[in-house]
Amino acid sequence: MNEPGYHIQFVFNDKVVSLSFDGSTELKPTTTVLNYLRSFPFHKGVKEGCAEGDCGACTVVLAEIKNDKLHYTTIDSCLVFLPMLHGKQLITVENLANGKELHPVQQQMVEQSGSQCGYCTPGIVMSLFGLYKNHHKPNRVVIEDALTGNLCRCTGYQPIIKAAEIACSIEDNDKFTLNSVKTKALLNEINTHSPIVIETAKQKYYKPFTLLDALRLRSQYPNAIIVNGATDIALRQTKKRELLDEIIDISDVKELKYFVEKQDYYSIGAGLQMEQLKLYAEKTLPALYQMLQIFGSLQIRNVATIGGNIGSASPIGDTLPLLFAYKAKVKLQSSITERICNIEDFIKGYRFTDLQKDELITEVMIPKPPVGTFIKSYKVSRRKDLDISTVSAGFSLLLENNKVKEIILSYGGMAAQTIRAGKTEQFLLRKEWSRTFIEDAMEILQEEFTPLSDARAEANYRSTVARNLLLKFFAETSL
Ligand SMILES: Cc1cc2nc3c(=O)[nH]c(=O)nc-3n(C[C@H](O)[C@H](O)[C@H](O)COP(=O)(O)OP(=O)(O)OC[C@H]3O[C@@H](n4cnc5c(N)ncnc54)[C@H](O)[C@@H]3O)c2cc1C
Ligand code: FES
Ligand code: FES
Repeated sequence: MNEPGYHIQFVFNDKVVSLSFDGSTELKPTTTVLNYLRSFPFHKGVKEGCAEGDCGACTVVLAEIKNDKLHYTTIDSCLVFLPMLHGKQLITVENLANGKELHPVQQQMVEQSGSQCGYCTPGIVMSLFGLYKNHHKPNRVVIEDALTGNLCRCTGYQPIIKAAEIACSIEDNDKFTLNSVKTKALLNEINTHSPIVIETAKQKYYKPFTLLDALRLRSQYPNAIIVNGATDIALRQTKKRELLDEIIDISDVKELKYFVEKQDYYSIGAGLQMEQLKLYAEKTLPALYQMLQIFGSLQIRNVATIGGNIGSASPIGDTLPLLFAYKAKVKLQSSITERICNIEDFIKGYRFTDLQKDELITEVMIPKPPVGTFIKSYKVSRRKDLDISTVSAGFSLLLENNKVKEIILSYGGMAAQTIRAGKTEQFLLRKEWSRTFIEDAMEILQEEFTPLSDARAEANYRSTVARNLLLKFFAETSL
C-alpha cells in the first residue's frame, strides 16, 4: 500500500480545496456534501428537502476526468459523504453564472417562468445543467428522465421542460467548456492512487482507489461497512441518525467499473453505476435496460451500483428478481481467495447474504440466455418513476414445441427476500404454454406466497398483482 493520505482534495470555485478531519472543524468523514455546502455563508443555494434522495432540492454536479474529457454527473448531495468528492470538481448553482451573465439554463428558467416559490429551483437548474453538458438537443424522453429526481410542487413542469429544450439546443461553449484545460490540470494534480485514511476519535473512513488496496483493507477491517454508491448506507445516517463508525468506501475503485461482453456471458464490475449499466444494457440485456429505466432517478443511478443493489439484499431490490431469471452469478474476492456463487445461493434472507467478512462482491456475471428465451422484468409501484416496488418480478421462459422446457418465476416484494415461485414453476414444466394452464398456475401461485401488508400495499393486493404479472407474461410471450 502506498503512503496514505489523511485529507481529501477536490476542485471547488476554480480552486483546489483540501479538507482534513483532524478535529479542528466540525466536519466528520460522513458529513454529507449537502451539510458541508450549507455551512458556507454564500453557498446556501443547495436546499434540503427530504435528505433521502427523493426530492432533488440538493442536486449538485460533479465533474471528473474520463478518457481525458470532463464528464459531468448530477447527484443528490444529501446522500454523498465528503470523501466521495475526492479528485472531482464540485459545481453548485452559485458557480454557474459567468460574472453577471446567467448560464443558458438559468437564463431560460427565467425567460420561461420556470420557478415560483423557488425552493426546488437550484436543484432543477443543476439537473438542467447536467442535461446541457451531456445532451445536445435532447428529446422529451431524455429531458423528462433528467428531471425525474426533481420534485416541483408549484410551477408545473411544462415551463421547465421548455427551458431545457431551448437551453440545450444551443452550442455548449459555457465557461466550464472554456475553462476545461485548467480544470483538468487541477484535477490531475489532486488525483491519487494512495488510499485515503481518516481516523478520528469516533470514526474510521478508508478510501482505496485500487482493488488490491480495497481487498487488503477489507481483510484488515472486517467489521467496516462497505460503501459503494452509498444510496442505501447514507440513509442510516441521514434518517436513522446512526454514527457509522468504520467505513471502507470503494466508490472510486476504477477496476470495479466495467461491462465486458465475453463469449457466453456479460461480465459486469460490481462498482458499475446503474446509469452506466443502463447504457450498456440497452443493446445487450433488454429486460435489464427496461428495469433500469425506472430505477430511482438519474441522480440515484449516477451513483448507485449493481454491487450495492445485490449487497443490500433488499426484498424489493429491483435487479434481484431479474438476476435470478438471468441465472446470474457473483464473484466474491478476498485478498487471498476467489469464489463464484449463484445469485440465488448468495441471497440468504432479509438483507442477509453469504458474503464473508473478508470478501467483496467484485463481479456480476450474466450468462447469455439460449436463443429463443423470453426474459421479462416487471415493477409495480404507486408511481412510475422514483418509487419503491410494491411487487417486482423477473421471469424467464424457454419453450420447445410450445411446451415449457425451462421457466424461472422470481418475485420481489412477496417475502422477506427475493423468491422463486418453485411450485408454480414445477407445475408449468413440460406443460403446454396455454391460457388454461396459466390460469391453473395462478391458483398455485396464490397459495405459494404469504406476503406482508404494509404502508405500500395489502397482502391481498400483492398476491393479486403477482398472479396478474404471470398472466401478463403469458400474454406477452404466447405465440
Ligand atoms: C431515492 C432512492 C431511490 C431508489 N430507487 C431504487 C429503485 O428504484 N430500485 C432499487 O432496487 N433500489 C432503489 N434504491 C436503493 C439503492 O439505490 C439501491 O439498492 C442501490 O443499488 C444501492 O447501491 P449503492 O452502490 O448505492 O449501495 P451502498 O449503499 O453503497 O451499499 C448497499 C449495501 O451493499 C453493500 N455493498 C455495496 N457494494 C458492495 C460490494 N462490492 N461488496 C460487498 N458489499 C457491498 C454495502 O455494504 C451495503 O450493505 C433507491 C434509493 C434511494 C435513496
Ligand atoms: S434533500 Fe431531497 S434529494 Fe436530497
Ligand atoms: S417552484 Fe416551488 S417547488 Fe418548484
